[in-house]
Amino acid sequence: MFFKQSIWDFVKERATELSTPYYLLDEERLLRNMEKIAYVKDKSGAKSVLALKCFSSWTVFPLMSKYMDGTTSSSLFEAMLGYEKFGLPGQGKETHAYSVAFSEEEVREVRKFATKIIFNSVSQLKRFHDIAKGIPVGLRINPGVSYSHFALADPARKFSRLGSVSMAEIEEISDSLSGVMFHCNCENDDLGALSKILNTISEKYGELLRKLDWVTLGGGIYFTKEGYPLDSFCEILKEFSEKHDTQVYLEPGESAITRAGFLVTKVLDIVHNEIDIAIVDAAANVHMPDLVAYQEDAKIDLPGGGSKTEHKYQIAGRTCLAGDIFGTYTFPGTLNPGDLIPIADAAGYTIVQKTWFNGVPMPSIVVKRLDGKVEVVRTFTYEEYLNNLS
Ligand SMILES: Cc1ncc(COP(=O)(O)O)c(C=O)c1O
Repeated sequence: MFFKQSIWDFVKERATELSTPYYLLDEERLLRNMEKIAYVKDKSGAKSVLALKCFSSWTVFPLMSKYMDGTTSSSLFEAMLGYEKFGLPGQGKETHAYSVAFSEEEVREVRKFATKIIFNSVSQLKRFHDIAKGIPVGLRINPGVSYSHFALADPARKFSRLGSVSMAEIEEISDSLSGVMFHCNCENDDLGALSKILNTISEKYGELLRKLDWVTLGGGIYFTKEGYPLDSFCEILKEFSEKHDTQVYLEPGESAITRAGFLVTKVLDIVHNEIDIAIVDAAANVHMPDLVAYQEDAKIDLPGGGSKTEHKYQIAGRTCLAGDIFGTYTFPGTLNPGDLIPIADAAGYTIVQKTWFNGVPMPSIVVKRLDGKVEVVRTFTYEEYLNNLS
């Protein structure tokens, strides 16, 4: 994919102006995902609401809200953020409010502005239905099928608390529903597997869906990934929507921002213990915690050129956790203290999850706007670290 400037040229060019570590959000790369989301809506009718749990950097919401229909949330605070920063119902934007478990006070608060409330269980729905009355109410259903390579993220795993499983319970309250949510995918780039899941949903819940106004298929569908069969995806969504005469929603988190962000780090030290290890001024467990939770390597789009000799380094973080490792990569040249290393695909589940563990400086947030302007939108200070504690 061609971009105006390679990430390596960018970080080199801005080396004196931007202090590391920093998250870089690139609107040019973000736009590529947004255009795919808009294409899906145009071809299939499916609306997309941004899953704030994955990405909540509201500095780029003005761009995203031109292409997406609103936000969905996992808590009162996320719902408030979506409402405040993504656009109001009067501007055609939706604020879906979902939580694995709401407190009564939260339902009272969220119902003041949410455009839909989605309960995770029939018991919550029954308890709070009277408070929520007046806005469309939905229920999360666990259809018993899913696509996930990780038990940690599998919503249909044994004993899952995520969504209602009892058909009898669902039928009992079905008259109070305006829609339902199925979130049962995680990093699913296999259209055939998705199609099977949708068939199961149709077979099991077809009768219910026909009575409802909307159904959200959740997130975890990797449809903005390079090479994904987008047109076939649109056909499947359109067919599903027509068959059940319902408005389909998608809740992309990762798909909305994939490949649009970097964590730019600097090498602080090179050590050797059988292998060469470059320690950078950021931390995998602190600034990209899913890498450690899911035991995955970070992506680094290695620069071309250099010598023919292989220069292999483990890139590791600076916390005291032994497993604070980004991954092992072969560089075209040797690495030295002071070298900059941009870690790719670093926007999703990173900025929203970063912590102050070990007192490691928090990466600032830098945005490269569509017009090429570079803005440092947020830096973090010692005072913020201090005030985060007590
Ligand atoms: C209910 C719900 N919707 C949407 C998402 C976003 O998923 P992803 O970032 O994989 O697209 C999640 C992720 O856990 C979720 O739980």
